[in-house]
Amino acid sequence: MAYPYQITSLENYHYQHQKSIQNPEAFWSEIAEHFVWHQKWSKVLNWNFSEPKVEWFKDAKLNITENCIDRWLPSKANDPAIIWEPNDPSETSRTLTYQELHNQVCCFAQVLVNNGAQKGDRICIYMPMVPELTIAVLACARIGAIHSVVFGGFSAQSVSDRIQDAQCNIVVTADGAFRGNKTIPLKPVIDEALINCPSVKKVIVLTRTGQPVSMIEGRDCFWENEMKKVEESGLSSFPAVSMDAEDMLFILYTSGSTGKPKGVVHTCAGYMVWANYTFVNVFQYQPGQVHFCTADIGWITGHSYIVYGPLSAGATTLMFEGIPTWPDAGRFWDIVEKHAVNILYTAPTAIRSLMSFGTDPINNKDLSSLQVLGTVGEPINEEAWHWYDDHVGKNNCPIVDTWWQTETGGIMISNLAGVTKSKPCFATLPLPGIQPVLIDEKGNEIEGNGVSGNLCMKFPWPGMLRTTYGDHERCRTTYFSTYENLYFTGDGCIRDEEGNYRITGRVDDVLNVSGHRIGTAELENAINMHSGVVESAIVGYPHDIKGQGIYAFVIFNGIHIDEEHTKKDINQTVSKIIGAIAKPDKIQFVSGLPKTRSGKIMRRILRKIAEGDTENLGDTTTLLDPAIVEEIKKNRI
Ligand code: PRX
Repeated sequence: MAYPYQITSLENYHYQHQKSIQNPEAFWSEIAEHFVWHQKWSKVLNWNFSEPKVEWFKDAKLNITENCIDRWLPSKANDPAIIWEPNDPSETSRTLTYQELHNQVCCFAQVLVNNGAQKGDRICIYMPMVPELTIAVLACARIGAIHSVVFGGFSAQSVSDRIQDAQCNIVVTADGAFRGNKTIPLKPVIDEALINCPSVKKVIVLTRTGQPVSMIEGRDCFWENEMKKVEESGLSSFPAVSMDAEDMLFILYTSGSTGKPKGVVHTCAGYMVWANYTFVNVFQYQPGQVHFCTADIGWITGHSYIVYGPLSAGATTLMFEGIPTWPDAGRFWDIVEKHAVNILYTAPTAIRSLMSFGTDPINNKDLSSLQVLGTVGEPINEEAWHWYDDHVGKNNCPIVDTWWQTETGGIMISNLAGVTKSKPCFATLPLPGIQPVLIDEKGNEIEGNGVSGNLCMKFPWPGMLRTTYGDHERCRTTYFSTYENLYFTGDGCIRDEEGNYRITGRVDDVLNVSGHRIGTAELENAINMHSGVVESAIVGYPHDIKGQGIYAFVIFNGIHIDEEHTKKDINQTVSKIIGAIAKPDKIQFVSGLPKTRSGKIMRRILRKIAEGDTENLGDTTTLLDPAIVEEIKKNRI
């Protein structure tokens, strides 16, 4: 068997899960034996959730890139590691074998070093979905630098905040990105972002779109020139730096219910083992299969299931630069047919969006290579689940509904393709190593089946976050202080009569829009930056395609405003401060907000109004100004 720790049957799953609970250290140490180490661990696990402090594989030394690349050489030297499909189908796709990936990663590792990078440095990567993005990520890991990938849709202000928070010294970017029929500038965004980032000494710019860019002498250089210099020097490999198991591997910023996005930190060994274990088991990957995860590497899904999970398993991973609906809504299906994709992993929002085009774009496509389907990022509704099953999987492919988070590093609750049972809209069962509990409002554990509560974890797993960068206290208060000795996910959850888990959505002030997390506080702050806005309140409402839409209630300072014009202004402000993904779907101008006498906004009422449930608003008599509710109801959009 290619992966000795691959679960093979339902009985075997129960056995493994049991074993992982009874003796977690023995369980994980056996699995960890199947990786490449410079030095083994002295202790498998140390932990307490009160600080929190979590250490896996203490004192072990390794480099994750040796596990993702070197160990597949020479046996898989000519096997495809990355298949890249460009945005424009008329452009040629590219394949990088494991040998080619090795050469490129080593070469770029040397480029980073030539530009002053050292172990422990933070490097920001702001790039389109091209193979060089994966190469940059792995090159950072090769030299022991900590990568912080920022999604190419974020604004200059957002990039700047993230660079400053991590004090990055190098940025790797591209001139621009192709997305559908648009060409998006990236380097100009970095130029604007860097005005406030004195820590950045070097910017390495890949040429992708060919649009003109301004290059600052001494700071900016082109990827191609730097690579050429190294290639001409005859470099054939770059030794992987030995990392401590608990050294930081990467930072990934994510929104929460308060303040600015926080930098979730993952470390080398535990994350590697978890990304690999979950990849191999959830998708039941078999060597030779082509795995297509449609996420962007700017999100955790791309980190774990485009880069680290598949490559550490010697798999073939497909990277797609474009969007599902361009040049038409058959783009995913063309890719599946062209590259004989075996595993397709996407988001419910993409499925719903494709569903809205009907089955014409899919009917004449050959999807017979597909064997496993997966979803991630948000709850999937029954209709979308069945459409995926009927029209994509032809009722012949197991669908894994994978629940997890940026903070968890990898999949936590999911069925295992073809091995454990699926149930529409249920993530189903916890993976081995995962001990979920449901907690009631008073903080007590709810035992038994057929119950619901707030989802927590009572035991650490290798891939969990270790801290939030530069602010450990924030990590403690956000995840480990709501309930004593538990990791709190922020999600509500049902456990059915058979013990299957169904995640119902966030219970905090975080929205999940098209599978992306948006903190309401962060968005309100952005809207309030508009000079005319006095105050705002953001809530989510059900949206057919995005899952949740963003509804903004805004008090505007001005009597005679051109509403349409002002809405555009506000949207522009949001795009500037956060990025286009956070633009509200609806903006309603109001003269006041429903507040308690102590000044707290009653979001519960606004949420009901946004959802269209204006009859059951509960008791509004304790509000500072009950009349405002009538006005808001009347003018609801
Ligand atoms: O609310 C849950 C939802 O997405 C949140 C995590 O968002 P993020 O860190 O951006 O990571 C997304 C990709 C892993 C969770 O707290 N979520 C994720 N997967 C599911 C889900 N909700 C329901 N079902 C899922 N399969």
